[in-house]
This record gives sequence, C-alpha cells and structure tokens, in this order.
Amino acid sequence: MKITSAEFIKSALKRLDYPEESLPEVAFAGKSNVGKSSLINTLVNRKNLVRTSSSPGRTQMLNFFRINNQINFVDFPGYGFAKVPVSVRAQWKPMVEDYLKYRKTLKMVIILLDARRAPSADDATLVRWLEAFDIPFLIVLTKSDKISKNKCSTQQKIIKDFLLLKDEEIICFSAVNKMGRQEILKRIMRVI
Ligand code: GTP
Ligand code: MG
Repeated sequence: MKITSAEFIKSALKRLDYPEESLPEVAFAGKSNVGKSSLINTLVNRKNLVRTSSSPGRTQMLNFFRINNQINFVDFPGYGFAKVPVSVRAQWKPMVEDYLKYRKTLKMVIILLDARRAPSADDATLVRWLEAFDIPFLIVLTKSDKISKNKCSTQQKIIKDFLLLKDEEIICFSAVNKMGRQEILKRIMRVI
C-alpha cells in the first residue's frame, strides 16, 4: 500500500460529531503512552501527522485521519493513566463503547500492547468487547526494538496464550526500525 496522502479530519467526543460514515475505518487503541500515535505516523510515513507525547494521556478525544482518500484511521485516547482527571477517565468508556457499538464503517481495531509487559485488565476487557461485538482486531506489540527479536516472539506466544488469541491475531512492531509495518498495512488492506 503506497501512502499518497494523510490528513487530520477532526476530533470528536460524541457520535454527532464524528465525520460522516463513508470510508472504511481502522481504529487504534491501547493504554496511554504505548505508542498509538507513533504507529499511525509510521504506517503513513509521516513524522508528525499525529502528535506523539512524552506526557501520557494528552489525547482525550477520538481523532479522525483520512489516508489516501481511501481509509480513515481513528486514534483513540489512551486508557489507564492515573494522572488523567477522574472526569476525563469517566468519559472514556462511554465514548469508546459508543464508537465500537455504532460505527458502521469500522472494519478493524488495532490494539497496542507494550512488547515488554503483561497485558492489563483494561487490555483484556477491550479484547473481550471486540469479540462480543464481532469486530475484527489485531494485537500489535510495540517498542519491540527495546528487546531482541527472539524475545518478542516469546512474548508474542505468552500474550497470545494469556489473551486466548489465534496465531494470526498478534504481531511484533517497532516505530524505530519499522519492523512489522508492511504486515500491518497488508492486514488493513485485507479488511477494508
Ligand atoms: P497517548 O496518546 O498519550 O495515549 O500515547 P500514545 O499511545 O499515542 O504513544 P506515543 O505514540 O505518543 O508514544 C509514547 C512514547 O513512546 C514516545 O516517547 C514515543 O517516542 C515512544 N515510542 C512509541 N513507539 C515506540 C517504538 O516502537 N519504539 C520505541 N523505542 N519508542 C517508541
Ligand atoms: Mg497518542
């Protein structure tokens, strides 16, 4: 997949504010600071389409991007960051649940997990939601440049067993050396 254009469309909290349901959509979810924005930037070959942050929890709305006038990417706010005010954390669940339940153009959710850590209860909950709503998903293990290739394969297997996944539902990725980029793009093309 060759990226010819990538642009920010809008941020939205509520359904009424989403862009119209026209293009197929892929959403990116995961805990704060796991690397969602970096993954999107890597996929579209842009350094700063999506703002990455050293202070976790800054993205608090659904951010919509249009790629090649062909797909929308949706950057979810990260979950599970303690410093985010309670009022903001409380709006995360209805916002994301509403999106997942009602967005007809949603084709796949990419869930990011840190390749070095065990999945959290929030991660597991999200996986079970997607299964319940029958939404295709792919687990991406980020920051795999911080461990060896072998170690990432081991982690892949441990996390797969822990979350009761199929082999093809999990993949190693790095925004630093771009490992996994082509494969993730291929999966996206397959579902849209
Ligand atoms: P929030 O929007 O706050 O939830 O964070 P996010 O999930 O969008 O994470 P973001 O992409 O902003 O990355 C967080 C930090 O991790 C940044 O300092 C990134 O440079 C770093 N990072 C992201 N991906 C990778 C990766 O694959 N390898 C390494 N080494 N660092 C990464
Ligand atoms: Mg982000």
